[in-house]
Amino acid sequence: MRIPVLTIDGPSGAGKGTISRAIAKKLAWNYLDSGSIYRSLAISAVDQQANLDDEQAMAEIAANMALSFDSGDELVVRLAGTDITHRLPTEETGAVASKIAAYPKVRAVLLQKQKDFRQLPGLVADGRDMGTVVFSNAEIKVFLTASAEERAKRRFKQLKEKGIDANIDKITKEIQERDRRDSERKSAPLIAADDAFYLDSSNLTIDEVINKVLALTEK
Ligand code: DC
Repeated sequence: MRIPVLTIDGPSGAGKGTISRAIAKKLAWNYLDSGSIYRSLAISAVDQQANLDDEQAMAEIAANMALSFDSGDELVVRLAGTDITHRLPTEETGAVASKIAAYPKVRAVLLQKQKDFRQLPGLVADGRDMGTVVFSNAEIKVFLTASAEERAKRRFKQLKEKGIDANIDKITKEIQERDRRDSERKSAPLIAADDAFYLDSSNLTIDEVINKVLALTEK
């Protein structure tokens, strides 16, 4: 039996997480936040004080990583039994994840782990290469983007709301740097699949984006 997949790819801060979670909930489908796998690997590597420049070492850590996802109302991620959820969203974790994610050996190890999320009744998969590599035969593909300035503004607002001090120029630079690294890498770069529906969320509300994507799934 064919298990349907909706892929949502795009750069960091485009709102993929919020949109994907909302759609998975509406459709009562499973949800894969593939970025959190790369982020967990980054945490594991940093905690082990491993050499981040060593591709083979990173691939071995990826292969041996005991990750578990508990998707209740809030996603809880455990690494070897320890709850690491609160460490996932930081900019430091994202930057290390982006560096390690460029290694082809790491991506190869993580490929099957991601495919395993394709379970009935369906899957919403969020990442960079969901539609191009991991689920290249997905039924519906979306490429969700927004200008770097708009994404920096959203991130700034999020941090302020959490009471975290932030600098908008620094955030914009970090976003541009991560875009560049994710797009220019040779292995599974950030790029829209030929058959993806391109959606620029710069001037749309969250609900408008959700409704546009849901309309696609109804077709
Ligand atoms: O989506 P995110 O910001 O949580 O992802 C963190 C990093 O992980 C991102 O900068 C690149 C990498 N990543 C990837 O290479 N492929 C994916 N499918 C998801 C994330």
